[in-house]
Amino acid sequence: MAKVPPPGTPSLVLGIETSCDETAAALVVRNPDGSGGILANKVLSQIDDHAPYGGVVPEIAARAHISHLDRLIKEALAEAGKTLGDLDAIAATRGPGLIGGLMVGLTMAKAIALGTGKPLIALNHLEAHALTVRLTDRVAFPYLLALMSGGHCQLLWVENVGAYKRLGTTIDDAVGEAFDKTAKLLGLGYPGGPAIEKCARAGDPTRFALPRPLKGRPGCDFSFSGLKTAVRHALETAETKPPSAQWLADLSASFQAAIADILAERTGHAMTALADQGRLSEKTGERRFVLAGGVAANLALRQRLSRVADEHQFTLFVPPPSLCTDNGAMVAWAGAERLAQGLTDPLTVGPLARWPLDPDAAPASTPAKGTGVKA
Ligand code: KG4
Ligand code: ZN
Repeated sequence: MAKVPPPGTPSLVLGIETSCDETAAALVVRNPDGSGGILANKVLSQIDDHAPYGGVVPEIAARAHISHLDRLIKEALAEAGKTLGDLDAIAATRGPGLIGGLMVGLTMAKAIALGTGKPLIALNHLEAHALTVRLTDRVAFPYLLALMSGGHCQLLWVENVGAYKRLGTTIDDAVGEAFDKTAKLLGLGYPGGPAIEKCARAGDPTRFALPRPLKGRPGCDFSFSGLKTAVRHALETAETKPPSAQWLADLSASFQAAIADILAERTGHAMTALADQGRLSEKTGERRFVLAGGVAANLALRQRLSRVADEHQFTLFVPPPSLCTDNGAMVAWAGAERLAQGLTDPLTVGPLARWPLDPDAAPASTPAKGTGVKA
């Protein structure tokens, strides 16, 4: 039996993240009062490796994790001034994600757990995103979470560690994926989110009347594929080819405005539904709304969602961009939160390419088409 630290003592957890195209290792401390700190957070982005393909290539990602993970763990330990023997637990992403990468990270975590005799925590990547804000802002349960990244687009009601209710999800692309695919169509490069946001700054968001899929429909699910098709149509029917820089800026701004409208409407529905279900406190400051995932770095979207939060008397929390995108600290922290509850895993667990955070969630309005890689 692996040794769990006694209650009332701080815990030091190593976190390993390899579910997609970031290889990451971090060391985090969690104190018994729920506060915590990051001692080291090493992230190696593989963006340059995948950029020529306009998206993540699973085999390239897995090989890169193999090449870099042990070095990153060593660097994280050195930066924190710790050794493997100091660890209280080893946390790694078990899923959802690209199976080759998950195998690399989870196997490494198991080896360290076996060698040190410390517990393994094999956790859900979405849970790691969901709990990060408790490290950065000490946000109390419960809260509404909008998880928006290249692989996920979900609204979750976060009740406790291990207790999540999915209120809505995408029925086709994840929101970051919509940015990436659209940027690829427009020749703006990869990753598409930052490229479109930058291009949109000089653009007129009202020039193109792009669709808002599912607009006016009840519920909290998302759809983006019709929007992508409309962008392709605009491109095919553009008067000048290649289109001018202003045309591209206007289309980017119109696309981003459509995304903002979609996210705002569906988030508003979630807030109303939570109120109708009597899940929200009437006390000021106790309605909490958290943004996570790489798309949360987008300022225009953030401002729009901040307005939605105001309208529904929610307080908005957004972890810093480096902790919104995939990283090891979020895995280490979620591991520490699970450890505090005595939730550890046997060395026999295997990686899971698909792993919904809320196993009881009803399927999205229409079956997803296997577009998102992670959830
Ligand atoms: O959380 P993340 O690093 O990885 C996944 O779990 O997918 O998110 C990456 C995604 C990419 O699709 C990227 O285009 C998007 O986040 N993204 C953005 C911005 N920065 C990153 N999307 C819109 N605007 C941004 N500024
Ligand atoms: Zn992620």
